[in-house]
Amino acid sequence: MEYKEEIKRIFREEPIPEHILQRMHEYERRRYEVPEETLIKRPSHIEGIKASSEINTGVLDAVAEKIRVGMSTQEIDDIVSEYTLSHGAICAPLNFEGYPKSVCTSINNEVCHGIPSRHRHLQNGDIVNVDVSTIYKGYYSDASRMFMVGNVSPQRKKLVEETKRCLEIGIEAAQPWNTVGDIGYAISKYARSKGYSVVTQLGGHGVGIEFHEDPFVSHVGKRGTGMLLVPGMVITIEPMINEGRAEVVIDPYNGWTIYTKDKSDSAQWEHSILITETGNEILTY
Ligand code: MF3
Ligand code: CO
Repeated sequence: MEYKEEIKRIFREEPIPEHILQRMHEYERRRYEVPEETLIKRPSHIEGIKASSEINTGVLDAVAEKIRVGMSTQEIDDIVSEYTLSHGAICAPLNFEGYPKSVCTSINNEVCHGIPSRHRHLQNGDIVNVDVSTIYKGYYSDASRMFMVGNVSPQRKKLVEETKRCLEIGIEAAQPWNTVGDIGYAISKYARSKGYSVVTQLGGHGVGIEFHEDPFVSHVGKRGTGMLLVPGMVITIEPMINEGRAEVVIDPYNGWTIYTKDKSDSAQWEHSILITETGNEILTY
């Protein structure tokens, strides 16, 4: 809880630059949806989120080094937990709204929030998303990657690569003074041009001081709509792209795991990014 006090003190002592406030007010007069000032991180917050992100990236690198055919998804959870705790950090998913594990592992037709299990082993040809979120000194970071296990079919490989391209295209659209709708527009336009569908029920989010902050970052959208992107905001972009239809269903037994309704494959990549005055910075590289 001391961290929360420190974070609040930084809000008081490190003001938003006047020229940024003025530009926000101009947009507000033009009826744009502008962020609350608490969504605009200050230099010391950004330092903290960067330190958290560095550990988060280390976790994903540790997974990348060890992931292999036959490994259980619980073993991935063990790698994540061990690395995170040994670096003085906390796994954000564990106990988040009752979530039972330290990481999400989503295989093939699982869109997201797959729960690690001793009984689920990675099979040759699987595509798996490993979604890692870290809390360090009160600051949150969030990123995910796809891993191709063993010999993956060309169709799955293409889905994984085009989904990564969707993330890159979303990041390119996340320019200061653009809006959240510009991100969703760019991603969905590209994904659909490749014959894929975009999951709409889940999306990216503000991140850094809480796990999930405003705005909701839809991966579909209309240009120039939704919340303005202001320098100092930190958001995730995390497109979930389906081989088949966009509809998803939730696991009725665990209440967490999201699947494609038509059982087609799904892929996802995620970064946490900082909106800057000149563009953006990927924090979770
Ligand atoms: N890491 C997910 C995200 O990208 C959230 C997972 S919530 C959990 O936003 F509880 F399932 F971990
Ligand atoms: Co996220």
